[in-house]
Amino acid sequence: MRTAVFPGSFDPVTLGHVDIAVRAKALFDRVVIAVAHNSRKSPVLDTDTRVELARAALAHLDGVEVKATDGLLVDFCTAEGAVAIVKGLRGGADYDVERPMALMNRTLTGIETVFVSGDPALQHVASSLVRDVARHGGSVADMVPGGVEDALREALRRER
Ligand code: PNS
Repeated sequence: MRTAVFPGSFDPVTLGHVDIAVRAKALFDRVVIAVAHNSRKSPVLDTDTRVELARAALAHLDGVEVKATDGLLVDFCTAEGAVAIVKGLRGGADYDVERPMALMNRTLTGIETVFVSGDPALQHVASSLVRDVARHGGSVADMVPGGVEDALREALRRER
């Protein structure tokens, strides 16, 4: 049983994340989505909501679980028995951000990061842009799984 961890802020989960989770599950027996804390970001959605939305979005995939973690990612990977971290790449800019984290994680425990190219049709989809479009009243329905747009609008409304 080979387990991979697919970590991120998932604020909110997008169709891009779902695409990467499907591709990761084709490579590993078990994929654990880690809804983690990025110290450079203040999430709009609280952790429980991010976990719930990701769970609903990925419920159709056998062997894919969603868990929250607020510690060091490599410790979570060890606890889950993961042999790899999976990250999705939309392009070179993503790689520039991800490579230092991959090297840091490998230095900490030896865990490798597997980079998976996402569907080019979803190249424009990023949680940060989805939040920005929604914040300014645009529709994000084509970029996120069912239920996410409403939850995001509700959280943004409460933020005001
Ligand atoms: O979706 P994001 O915000 O780009 O994901 C980044 C995330 C959450 C995976 C990263 O910040 C992380 O691993 N956070 C957990 C704490 C940790 O292990 N930090 C060291 C990373 S090298």
